[in-house]
Amino acid sequence: MRILVSVDTREKVDGAGRLIPVIWQHKTMQISELIKEKYGLTGQVSQLPGERDLNYQIVTNEGSYVFKIHESSEKNFIELQQKILTQVSSISTLAEPRPISDLHGNTLIDLPNGKIGRLLTWASGELFSQIEKNPQVKQSLGSAVALVDKELINFDVAPYLETLTRPFGWNVLQANELKEKINLIKDEHLRVEVKQAFDFASTEILPKLEKLTKQLIHNDANDNNIVVENNVVTSLIDFGDIIYAPRVCGLAVACAYAISDLADPIFDVLPVIRGYHLVAPLNAEELEILFGLIKLRVATSIVMAAIQSADQPDNEYLLVSQAWFNQLITTLNKTDPNLAWYRMRSNCGYEANPNSRLVRQYLQSGRATIADVVMPPLKNVRKIWLDWSSDNQDLPRETSQIFNLMNQADAQLAIGHYCENRMVYQGEAFAIDSPARRSVHLGVDLFAPAGTPVFAALDGVVEYFNDNNVYLDYGPVIILRHETDTGIRFFTLYGHLSRPSLENLYIGKKVSAGELIATMGEEHENVGWPPHTHFQLLTDLCGMGLDIYGVAPLLELPVWRSISPNPNLALRIEEGTDAHTKLPSEILANERQVVMSRALSLNFKEPIEIVSGKGAYLYDQNGKPYLDLVNNVAHVGHCHPRVVAAGSNQMAKLNTNTRYLNQHAIEYARALASTMPDPLNVVFFVNSGSEANDLALRLAQAHTKAKGMIVLDHAYHGHVSSIIDISPYKFSGKGGLGRPDHVRVVPTPDSYKGLHRGADAGESYAKEFTKQLADLNQPLCAFISESIISTAGQITLADGFLPLAYQQARAAGGVCIADEVQIGMGRVGEFFWGFELHGVVPDIVTIGKPIGNGHPLAAVVTTPEIAQSFLTGMEYFNTFGGNPVSAAIGQAVLDVVADQSLQANAKNMGAYLMQGVRELAKSNPIIGDVRGSGLFIGVEFVLDQQTQIPATKFTADLIEYGKQQGVFLSSDGPDNNVLKIKPPLVIAKDDVDLFLSVLKDGLAKLI
Ligand SMILES: Cc1ncc(COP(=O)(O)O)c(C=O)c1O
Repeated sequence: MRILVSVDTREKVDGAGRLIPVIWQHKTMQISELIKEKYGLTGQVSQLPGERDLNYQIVTNEGSYVFKIHESSEKNFIELQQKILTQVSSISTLAEPRPISDLHGNTLIDLPNGKIGRLLTWASGELFSQIEKNPQVKQSLGSAVALVDKELINFDVAPYLETLTRPFGWNVLQANELKEKINLIKDEHLRVEVKQAFDFASTEILPKLEKLTKQLIHNDANDNNIVVENNVVTSLIDFGDIIYAPRVCGLAVACAYAISDLADPIFDVLPVIRGYHLVAPLNAEELEILFGLIKLRVATSIVMAAIQSADQPDNEYLLVSQAWFNQLITTLNKTDPNLAWYRMRSNCGYEANPNSRLVRQYLQSGRATIADVVMPPLKNVRKIWLDWSSDNQDLPRETSQIFNLMNQADAQLAIGHYCENRMVYQGEAFAIDSPARRSVHLGVDLFAPAGTPVFAALDGVVEYFNDNNVYLDYGPVIILRHETDTGIRFFTLYGHLSRPSLENLYIGKKVSAGELIATMGEEHENVGWPPHTHFQLLTDLCGMGLDIYGVAPLLELPVWRSISPNPNLALRIEEGTDAHTKLPSEILANERQVVMSRALSLNFKEPIEIVSGKGAYLYDQNGKPYLDLVNNVAHVGHCHPRVVAAGSNQMAKLNTNTRYLNQHAIEYARALASTMPDPLNVVFFVNSGSEANDLALRLAQAHTKAKGMIVLDHAYHGHVSSIIDISPYKFSGKGGLGRPDHVRVVPTPDSYKGLHRGADAGESYAKEFTKQLADLNQPLCAFISESIISTAGQITLADGFLPLAYQQARAAGGVCIADEVQIGMGRVGEFFWGFELHGVVPDIVTIGKPIGNGHPLAAVVTTPEIAQSFLTGMEYFNTFGGNPVSAAIGQAVLDVVADQSLQANAKNMGAYLMQGVRELAKSNPIIGDVRGSGLFIGVEFVLDQQTQIPATKFTADLIEYGKQQGVFLSSDGPDNNVLKIKPPLVIAKDDVDLFLSVLKDGLAKLI
């Protein structure tokens, strides 16, 4: 059970900072009678600790409640809170506390002594203040605050404006008034710190805050107002501090209380900010002031405690409880506000330093005068590149090794990479034992003999210089300051210089681009490194001066890539200098969340990073192999050498568009068309299955001059808007906008558990087709279908349905489109194309996924007659479709399918696999149906053979189990209870056996 403890001293003050006396006490006895009389509830009553309001917990058989008693003078304010609570409790994840009406329907009741009372549902869980705060719960906190803000965005505040703008110390918009009270802080050091935070806010934060849109905000996500269950925030309680202010103020409150580590408080709050951003995206203006607002909140809390302490001089606890904030304010004042801002921005997907883009553009645009840093003209210098990455066991660390390598290659210069993850940084300065360990090189190293002259890259002035005479530091180092033509400052850093380089320098000294500024130091003077210059570009020194990172923490590399862009922008070494070091999977997952759309899902509960593939197998970053039963795109096997060679050879020779004669495209078009029956012989090349289906629609419309469409239920044909319109899987699914007017949907012709079953099912479904055709209130353009519907759960169309549907569609003036994007190219074993399973010849065939073996290649094949109808005068141009590289790859795939007899392999392996599963089905009734053709197979799991209740959870568990055992599986169908099996066609018998054994074990373990 949750214990409410009021450790937050500010609960004891009113808006003006005065104590509210507790003047009236109910006996718990009286309360239980009252609850019974007013609400008809009987239960155990106990008083809860608390100072401002009187609170009682009521535990009944039906659930727990909290009964709150307030002064009647607060009625207007309490009514507002009740309204808010009612609205917020509509958020499914934050449903408690919810106001409860009395037997007369009132949520506020008058009490005999003139006070008012209200009953709320009890928010069960633990308080945030009582739990171990991990990133997951912090992210959940940010999301909860955002959900509440989103819910309250349109709350009509007009009737309550006076209340919401009351004089209130916790209202950040009144910070300038509270500032007057700083002198109540007795400790002088603390007073200075707090004043610094308020001064910063007055000049840098509040003017910007004024410009942001206001709304109703909770404003009090302190850790005693947050209820958590299993690392998820389930309630935000106490709306007593609500104000009308920009939403970022409320987020700042949550952040201020979520900090638990003085070593790196910003790192601590990043998950809170991210959690908020993922629910209610933060804009750049909000992120710009967030750090200052967090600091201000901490400072506010210290002032409020001082006010209370002045009122209650004997209450020592008041100040003791503030001890944490007193330390925190000092740490926050020491934190560079720009660096904090950059980290918060990067955490939300924005580039860390917004000026970095402008600096990079300036250096790339030709507007800057840039000189060679060493050996002008640097472009012509003979160079070698050193591999100092952590992967290289034999890295040339010694001076002699480096110069030997240079001599062997007759090189004048050796280059060390930017963004290379190195093990060579062992000094204390690199925090080698901490998660914030710095190991990624941010400069470019230019290795040359000691004494080699070093020149200023750009016009500028000396910002700093020093002899950083600490082992493995920079030794003698110079930082120059520069400015873009639009006045943005940036810096270049030159490290490991000779001592005499620093003579005659002074801060502010002007230097010109190309001016000699230093020479490279000997190993003994540059603190233990072989002679070289570390050259770094910086868009901000982040308050660190000469201690600015030359080596960044891997965990925050995206931040540092922005602060310190690739110095090659100034060096202009044409062969490149960026090592693009490998990022850990956790960073990739974080980055993906904010820089790519979250509408793109990831496979598996724990996303997996795949780094290579071969044949039917994929490999993760640890080299663990996974049999890939999911990817029908890697048709002839992952990274098939012939396909790779065809693509890279052609890429090395020529890639252009189809507006020139090119043998590859033309020969491939004929080869592809030759796999199809007459009269399908005109080919259009495109880039994706969606594009192929979109073009198929245009062809059909040009031919029929009609728009009406018939589709099959649960079918998916692509992601472009015209095709979402004909994909029930999408338009009737989550987020779908429903069936468009020009589309009619025929029930999935599923003879296992569909509307019609048994031998005549095909004919019955054909009658459903007739009904839909009759219902279509416009001329028919086309009927589109797959021959085995994958998204519906690998449904093999009921026998006889397709020919009857084709007949009717054609009789109605429409054309028939076969979507072979999933199943074509020999996969179904018996035939090369899926439509051949049904003995029909479509008017238009769309193909995609497998034909490029992963290269974005797709095609539409149609009849000369339909192709003729498309000659309307409007040119059809497709930039990439059918380019020589794509065509060479397509041809190679076609050749491999034939040369390696992959269609026959699909037939044999598919039959062997289905037979194996059917064998298992005999003793495992959860296997309801095994269906498919060749290597396009569905295994449907049901909890009961008769009722066919889908075994959705089992299917999901099996997929996770498969992953553990090294077999990738996936599911589909309306209930996600059908295992989709569609591996690369190169799968061998041993691979099928591996799958069957994993399935067997999964069946034994998971049911
Ligand atoms: C049957 C079918 N048609 C078309 C498409 C769209 O192909 P793409 O994703 O290449 O646009 C898909 C994709 O999954 C598909 O399954």
